[in-house]
Amino acid sequence: MTWLITGGAGYIGAHVVRETLKSGRNVVILDDMSTGIATRIPDGVTLEEVTLVDKAGVEAVFAKHEITGVLHLAARKQVGESVEKPLYYWDENINGLTHLVGAMKNSGIKNLVFSSSAAVYGEPDIAPDALITEATHCLPINPYGATKLAGEWIAHALSASDDFHVAALRYFNVAGAGSPQLGDQFILNLVPIVFDALTKGNQPRVFGDDYPTPDGSCIRDYVHVQDLAEAHVAAMDYVERPDTTFAAINIGTGRGASVFEVLDMVREVTGLEVTPERIQRRAGDPAALTADVSRAAQLLDWQSKYDLRDIISSAWTAWQQTH
Ligand code: UFG
Repeated sequence: MTWLITGGAGYIGAHVVRETLKSGRNVVILDDMSTGIATRIPDGVTLEEVTLVDKAGVEAVFAKHEITGVLHLAARKQVGESVEKPLYYWDENINGLTHLVGAMKNSGIKNLVFSSSAAVYGEPDIAPDALITEATHCLPINPYGATKLAGEWIAHALSASDDFHVAALRYFNVAGAGSPQLGDQFILNLVPIVFDALTKGNQPRVFGDDYPTPDGSCIRDYVHVQDLAEAHVAAMDYVERPDTTFAAINIGTGRGASVFEVLDMVREVTGLEVTPERIQRRAGDPAALTADVSRAAQLLDWQSKYDLRDIISSAWTAWQQTH
């Protein structure tokens, strides 16, 4: 069995590739290497350096390899950039997806695990301490989230029209490192932003301390990238079952942590002085996003194993290796 992993040279992809290999499946990576890193690709794994917007290039990959399923991780994923360049996001994430699933259809491949996001929920109209289930109304508030929801719709339609077997994994806030070499090298999300500030002698900034949460800062569901990678293997098993149609599945821990709680953990793990600066809210940040993870347990027989301490300490070890 050979699985094509798009985005396999990325931060999440590198973890997913390793877990897929451990599960006994072969892997081919399709990555445009715009944010991928070649040294993350394990020996013996083929890299097809192709962009998904190149329809003929994508089809050629399917002609060359005996692919049995696709893990589709490759996408543009910066919320702010998506607001500035919406057409770029629709082109890369949606035209890229149609080329990929078109090539799957032409080759008779039906098993798809799609990287979706909690960004599909936007700012859900629920109490800050409520959990988000997959039945929570989806109303993305930026083009990035919109492309993820539209991607789910395309995959859902193909499950009806062409018997695709689909798991759309709605990732919550991914952080941590499965090994010190595989840390997130971009400084775009809270944990790397905080490490970057502290190692430059600056203090982290908290975007808003007047949210309707116990300490006033935003709550998110931080999930360890290693747990996330293992969820992908469970999702491959799930889509390989003959009775699978389509399921959107939250991937989180079911436990929320506030920005202040994350910073407290950073202080404990690093031993550094952390005196956060409180600044105004960032536009578009919902007060709280915590996953109800019961569907993942039920359909994938998966649940997270790692906690916030594991996330921060593994990310810190990786950060120190690369910075
Ligand atoms: N935050 C700060 N200070 C910072 C950076 C972030 O207080 O310097 C706060 C944010 O306001 C937010 C939390 O930390 O409350 C997490 O922020 P991130 O930017 O790391 O992540 P987001 O929750 O905004 O978004 C992330 C991914 C999205 C994904 C979403 C799903 O970046 O791609 O999780 O929940 F859609």
